[in-house]
Amino acid sequence: MKIWLDGGLRDAGTARVSVFDHGLTVGDGVFETVKADRGRAFALTRHLERLTTSARGLGLPAPDLDEVRRGCEAVLDANPMALGRLRITYTGGVSPLGSDRGEAGPTLVVALSETTRRPDTTAAVTVPWTRNERGALAGLKTTSYGENVVALARARELGASEALFGNTVGALCEGTGSNVFVVLDGELHTPPLTSGCLAGITRALTVTWAGAKETDLPLDALESAEEIFLTSTLRDVQAVTRIDGRQLGDRPGPVTAEAMRIFDERSAADFDPR
Ligand SMILES: Cc1ncc(COP(=O)(O)O)c(C=O)c1O
Repeated sequence: MKIWLDGGLRDAGTARVSVFDHGLTVGDGVFETVKADRGRAFALTRHLERLTTSARGLGLPAPDLDEVRRGCEAVLDANPMALGRLRITYTGGVSPLGSDRGEAGPTLVVALSETTRRPDTTAAVTVPWTRNERGALAGLKTTSYGENVVALARARELGASEALFGNTVGALCEGTGSNVFVVLDGELHTPPLTSGCLAGITRALTVTWAGAKETDLPLDALESAEEIFLTSTLRDVQAVTRIDGRQLGDRPGPVTAEAMRIFDERSAADFDPR
């Protein structure tokens, strides 16, 4: 396996970043997860735009997107596989042991791992912890993901693959690594970005392609929703058939099935939708 680190391809087993890297010591970094379908990165332009937005929000210098593209291409070419998780990580680089960032300049890593297509249905749970829609990192895809690690572990303990958060005012927000859609009275809704959720790329494409409304919803809308689905880079559109203790059928409902179909069709027709 080859990865990209600081300007070139390296052997994944021996590539090293400093123990003083600010991404490691304090989570000062941003990242993207990109779907690699038979060696092609899906929606790479949107992912690179979001990488830049996240970097700016964290006060990191804007990444050199030509280099990031070169890194992605080199890693994909060096490691052929059917379906991959392409991971771009961009951190504050070597820094003092504290929250002040050093002068050494950022670290860029592009790595890849093989994965398999997700099942069409899954289970999710709600968790008691909140997303902070007013926090400094709201809406940024940073490597400070400890809250997501804890919440996802809770979901796994309960036999689910995703944990859903409300925000500080009790509104429905997002999952640890996905956005959430609900069907209420036959209409498709997803929380607005002001809820503090990440501006998911799959979410944005699904809103446009399947025609969802962006609506402020209480967390307990999950209790009355006729259908629920998740969107993310590696889930695409995935039906939730069990939420907490409630079963919502054993297959995707009609609105979800249609969103899945549209997403598959449109994403196959355009690999870099703008
Ligand atoms: C917190 C969070 N929300 C939502 C998403 C979904 O975003 P995307 O569709 O761009 O993968 C992700 C990530 O992948 C995420 O980490």
